[in-house]
Amino acid sequence: MDTDKHASSQISRRRFLQSSALAAAGMALPTLTASAAEKDISHQWNSKKPSSFTMWQIPSHKNTIGNSYVFQSRRGKVIVMDGGFPEEAFTLRGFIGVLGNEVEAWFISHPHDDHMGALNEILADPQDLKIKAIYHSRVTDAVIDAEPTEAKKCRDFYARLDHTDIPVTDIQEAGRMFDFDGMKLKIVSVATGLTVNPYNNNSMIMRVWDRRKSLVFLGDAGIECGDLALKGPYADDLNCEYLQMAHHGQNGCSEEFYRSIKFRACLWPTPMWVWNNDTGKGYNTAHLNTIKTRAWMDSLGIKEHHVSVRDGLWKLD
Ligand SMILES: [Fe+2]
Repeated sequence: MDTDKHASSQISRRRFLQSSALAAAGMALPTLTASAAEKDISHQWNSKKPSSFTMWQIPSHKNTIGNSYVFQSRRGKVIVMDGGFPEEAFTLRGFIGVLGNEVEAWFISHPHDDHMGALNEILADPQDLKIKAIYHSRVTDAVIDAEPTEAKKCRDFYARLDHTDIPVTDIQEAGRMFDFDGMKLKIVSVATGLTVNPYNNNSMIMRVWDRRKSLVFLGDAGIECGDLALKGPYADDLNCEYLQMAHHGQNGCSEEFYRSIKFRACLWPTPMWVWNNDTGKGYNTAHLNTIKTRAWMDSLGIKEHHVSVRDGLWKLD
């Protein structure tokens, strides 16, 4: 085992646990002005219509919180969202290689290394993997420094983005749309500048859809980031069929957030120790809030859950 990478993974796991505890301690319920719960979104998908893209939820082979999604358009374009930890770059390279070894667009939700780490690793040594474009929403220096344990990794990543020959686009305004052979992608919200729960609350929220299905990716959005998205001009775009649970499904967006939007299934980029809130002493014995989030979903009547590490590679056409 590469001891440096193992240590990095352990630090990241510690950081996740620590930030979860801090968020739990400071959690305050927001006041929401409008509810989208009654909105009928059934027109937004239709299983009989042709699919324009396939999506895979990539499970972490190391039972970590690595967040990784790969899409392929009907004409073969490959789009990556996040990609997981540096130590997950090896398997991600293999997956992309099978699809043709060329990435049309790579989107990074925020600069935590369970999201940008694999891309950062690949940028350091691309080998024969071709990336045509990278999109992210750059966070401010104040945000970077508000989480000192992550600052060096974030700045290393940004330095790599600044020096790569790959076109890098910093999206600072929501609403931008992309169309990859009928696979639509919309930037629903961008980096907020919030220094509370700083990196997570600067997650870029993205919506992906075709005529058959719709998905929303919340990254690691915290309560405040979710509330800003709900109050923003693209709040309606949060309604979807498949919702990626914020911050791996615990201590992300508030219960009110989930109650304010419409969705019918959950994507969990989540290892078993987070899913079961079990860091070694049994089911629901740690301080993570996953079981609470799962109860919220039960109360909303959500019955379809896709948990990355439990269910393995999951494909959606
Ligand atoms: Fe994360």
